[in-house]
Amino acid sequence: MKKVSVGLLGFGTVGTGVVRLLTKDKERLEKRTGCEIHLEKVLVRNKNRPRKVLIDNRNLTTDVYEILDHPEINVIIELIGGVDQTYQYILRALKNKKNVITANKDLMASYGEELLLEAKANHCDLYYEASVAGGIPILRTLTDGLAADRIQKLIGIVNGTTNYILSKMSGDGLSYEKALASAQKLGFAEADPTSDVEGLDAARKMVILSHLAYSIPVKLDDVKIKGITDVTREDIVFAKRLGYTIKLVGISEVNNGDIDVRVEPTLLPDGHPLAAVENENNAIYVYSSALGETMYYGAGAGEGPTAVSVVSDLLSVVRNISLGVTGNHIFLPKKELHARKDNL
Ligand code: HSE
Repeated sequence: MKKVSVGLLGFGTVGTGVVRLLTKDKERLEKRTGCEIHLEKVLVRNKNRPRKVLIDNRNLTTDVYEILDHPEINVIIELIGGVDQTYQYILRALKNKKNVITANKDLMASYGEELLLEAKANHCDLYYEASVAGGIPILRTLTDGLAADRIQKLIGIVNGTTNYILSKMSGDGLSYEKALASAQKLGFAEADPTSDVEGLDAARKMVILSHLAYSIPVKLDDVKIKGITDVTREDIVFAKRLGYTIKLVGISEVNNGDIDVRVEPTLLPDGHPLAAVENENNAIYVYSSALGETMYYGAGAGEGPTAVSVVSDLLSVVRNISLGVTGNHIFLPKKELHARKDNL
């Protein structure tokens, strides 16, 4: 049986989920791919911290280069977050001909094109399904499932923390502060929740989705962003009385041949399927020419759901390794775009 060796950067919530899945379902995953999937090394900050999942201490390292430069490792899973330093790590991994899987939306929204070109130049895979909407396979849906259709508009609830806060302020009558503290405790919020509540996290995800939906690069600077910090409980109650639910949504649409992307608190009529998306769940509503309206709904954050996306990417990479191909099919670098605007 062919062996694929994996290096994992980061052993937080999602990293724990990945190790749990790879351990618990080892036999099933190996049967599915026909390859042995071996977790070679895990990068941690502190080797002696108690873990939620069983792992041999000898597999842990605090030296990132032990993984990036490891001669046996074929696939690196990046779950440490951050942008500039992590960009350098991934670049090095790709130059070392290692396939990369990342859940890092901040990184992909800023450096996705460069990294995908680097992956291509090194005949490596770079997959990032978990960077948007946690466990919902929306990147594959946009690029594979809907490949034949012309997408006209996306409306996404793509930040679990703000959706949770607004749901709790509405249903349970919690204050904004209490609802945010609860989201942090449950582990959905970013280390610095400013990017959640001010809409930046959702904007990054909309940049990635828009690029894939229309095959046109969208810059984060061009996204109009407004978060939920000014939304009061009175606003929510008043909207409810009028038959509306307030949600933080990202809207991306084709406007006179251009792509207009914005993130803002929005009044959704109570009958709209997106109005029923509660708590930390995410949903992406897609308008496309032939298929019409479809909605993709599920858990947008958390250990299990996000780990499923990461490990599914890993299975794609393992399949590609065993076939001797690469499949960076889910992001089109600028240099490969051919007058895409004609297709809008
Ligand atoms: N902070 C993010 C959210 C985590 O709340 O959606 C998942 O990307």
